[in-house]
Amino acid sequence: MSEPLVLGIESSCDETGVGIVRGTELLAHAVASSVEEHVRFGGVVPEVASRAHLEAMVPTLEQAYAQAGLDVRDVDAIAVTCGPGLSGALLVGVAAAKALAVAHDKPLYGLNHLAAHVAVDQLEHGRFDRRVAALLVSGGHTEILLVDDIASDITMLGTTIDDAAGEAFDKVARLLGLPYPGGPHVDRVAREGDGTAIAFPRGLTAAKDAERYRYDFSFSGLKSAVSRHVQHEQRMGRQIDVADVAASFQDAVVDVLTRKTVQACRDHDVDTLVVGGGVAANGRLREMVLSRAEAAGIEVRIPRPGLCTDNGAMVAALGAEVVARGVAPSSLDLPVDSSLPVTRIVA
Ligand code: KG4
Ligand code: ZN
Repeated sequence: MSEPLVLGIESSCDETGVGIVRGTELLAHAVASSVEEHVRFGGVVPEVASRAHLEAMVPTLEQAYAQAGLDVRDVDAIAVTCGPGLSGALLVGVAAAKALAVAHDKPLYGLNHLAAHVAVDQLEHGRFDRRVAALLVSGGHTEILLVDDIASDITMLGTTIDDAAGEAFDKVARLLGLPYPGGPHVDRVAREGDGTAIAFPRGLTAAKDAERYRYDFSFSGLKSAVSRHVQHEQRMGRQIDVADVAASFQDAVVDVLTRKTVQACRDHDVDTLVVGGGVAANGRLREMVLSRAEAAGIEVRIPRPGLCTDNGAMVAALGAEVVARGVAPSSLDLPVDSSLPVTRIVA
């Protein structure tokens, strides 16, 4: 039997994404982002994102059809992110997917966004042939996952207890007077700075946290430390060395992310690590994860940045795996679930 042809729809945050895949082959990848509309608020405004999804959905679908040279009538199934994410935003994608499923009599699969972030790597580096670990880092996620089967068996080993990694980048960028979204700007200015200039705290890495919070993260203390540093320098009438602060903050984040992830791989005897999410574009993270993983004998797979950030191809990629395993479709009254746990891959 040939590989399943699947249409995937993503709308959990500020990207409207439509992708089409055949098995692990990418046929279409269309994304519309509303990030510009959130810039003046310094973060994603849910209502603004929902409205933008509504406006972008049909044009993005049409763009994907044009890229693939086929349309919804040709596909075997329709996959859609139904959680976790912003409820109003998720509703737009799920409603669109249901309408297409009913109109064209196609099976509908409500899928987990986090699992899709991992599945997308298969479009670039081929199928996972054994257990892999995944580090997801974006504006909304910071998770270490253990993936035994991408369509049916994922365990969350750890997550953030406060801010997501990308959120910390965005907040610190704001403290340093850099534009939103701040991650790429911090990445850029940090290149001119010294990452050892300021000893910022490494959250949840004390010996007392090694058991309960072994694979968990906390970035709010780090953010406060940066804020205190900036205020202190201002009080002393000194110029803030933006490059040094950015580099030292970035090193603190990346140090903890990579240290805990490599530890998780070691503890679970995993020799393949997938890294995804917008923060996976960070130069320092890529450098440190590669060097630390290599030293531990772990192979690192990072999809290209356009597949790391939210998109529909990742949902289609997971959908193809789910369909190939003969999993029953979701019901047509599929709800959205803003806090869908990663253990529920198909809702
Ligand atoms: O995956 P994504 O596009 O959207 C979601 O949050 O789902 O991730 C966006 C986040 C933002 O917080 C942004 O500042 C961060 O990823 N980001 C970066 C870099 N590029 C994007 N953070 C650090 N370094 C980067 N180069
Ligand atoms: Zn995401």
